[in-house]
Amino acid sequence: MKEGTNIVREDIDEETGAITTPIYQTTAYSFPQGEKYRYSRELNPTVLELGKKIATLEEAEMGIAFSSGMGAISTTLLTILKPGSSLLVTMDMFGRSLRFSSDFLRSWGVNVEVSKPGNENLLEIAKSGKWNAIFVESITNPLLRVVDLDSLSKISKEKGSVLIVDSTFATPVNQKPLEFGADIVVHSASKFISGHNDVIAGLAAGKADILSKVDLMRRTLGTSLEPSPAYLVIRGMKTLKVRMDVINKNAEIIAEFLSDHSKVNKVYYPGLKSHPDHEIAVKMLKGFGGVVSFEVKGGKDEAIKLMKSTKIIIPAQSLGGVNSLISHPVTMSHRTLTLDEKKTVGITDSLLRLSVGIEDVNDLIDDLDRSLNSLS
Ligand SMILES: Cc1ncc(COP(=O)(O)O)c(C=O)c1O
Repeated sequence: MKEGTNIVREDIDEETGAITTPIYQTTAYSFPQGEKYRYSRELNPTVLELGKKIATLEEAEMGIAFSSGMGAISTTLLTILKPGSSLLVTMDMFGRSLRFSSDFLRSWGVNVEVSKPGNENLLEIAKSGKWNAIFVESITNPLLRVVDLDSLSKISKEKGSVLIVDSTFATPVNQKPLEFGADIVVHSASKFISGHNDVIAGLAAGKADILSKVDLMRRTLGTSLEPSPAYLVIRGMKTLKVRMDVINKNAEIIAEFLSDHSKVNKVYYPGLKSHPDHEIAVKMLKGFGGVVSFEVKGGKDEAIKLMKSTKIIIPAQSLGGVNSLISHPVTMSHRTLTLDEKKTVGITDSLLRLSVGIEDVNDLIDDLDRSLNSLS
């Protein structure tokens, strides 16, 4: 079956014939019927269906749903690593993922190496050490560097490490990291996958032998998802393909528009030829995604002024929904990075991150043009 069909298909409820997944809002299951299902932190039919859906979309043996993207990430890393293990991450990743790795895991006794942005740095460090796990974002946040997963997975296999890829920005529509040799793919399903800025959830998918260990850790840590948000993610997922088709197109048009604007200094979008990873992006991605980052002329004041003056685009920290959102990484998503880390990654005071939605692209361009022109 093709992806566009798989994405909307759900198993018909055997009991009632319901054509959408019911929300099993229960903590426990009556004994003796409850052979498979006993308690919902461990297993819940609605949540289980979501796990199956991400496994289908990522073409994985097994999928699991979590209470948040950070729940998926922390549970996965805590399964694979223990004190004395070695982990390689990159500096240009979601702030909390970096903090969890470089602060918490390090204090727990894991040897954590943090690579500077860019494939050259990453591949060189990957080759030079022995890693229990390598954890990267396939498109990084917020400067949208694209990781050469083909080369990284080859090195990871040679070293016997587990390659974990956060594919939140790419989504299974634009990239399937397991196809490129990753072992586990994780998502903040709070973003494009659910797609409506109304639910916090996380997902992981991969081979059943590793994923069943991650699942045991989920049951133990209690990073399990509730059935009602699981339903919202399943519902949102059904339109992922059509949303991403529009979002990819809108973002490409907006990236071109911003590149030509006199009030814009620099645009970061993997679909632009000027992007340092454009050639890798063409090989790795079916679409370039919905996030466009750009620097306005001026500094922090101008960036914040622009963010506050858009009328259709909403100033908010998240991304990946049907509505376009704009944020200021320095004071919002990446505020926990040290000054040095921000400098090394290239997150400047004038940088804004735009998550492009499915609105009419002409309205988005008018909104940006008017707001940019209002800057002195
Ligand atoms: C790339 C990436 N990974 C993980 C997360 C964490 O996900 P959540 O907010 O669902 O915990 C985020 C959140 O912004 C993110 O951007």
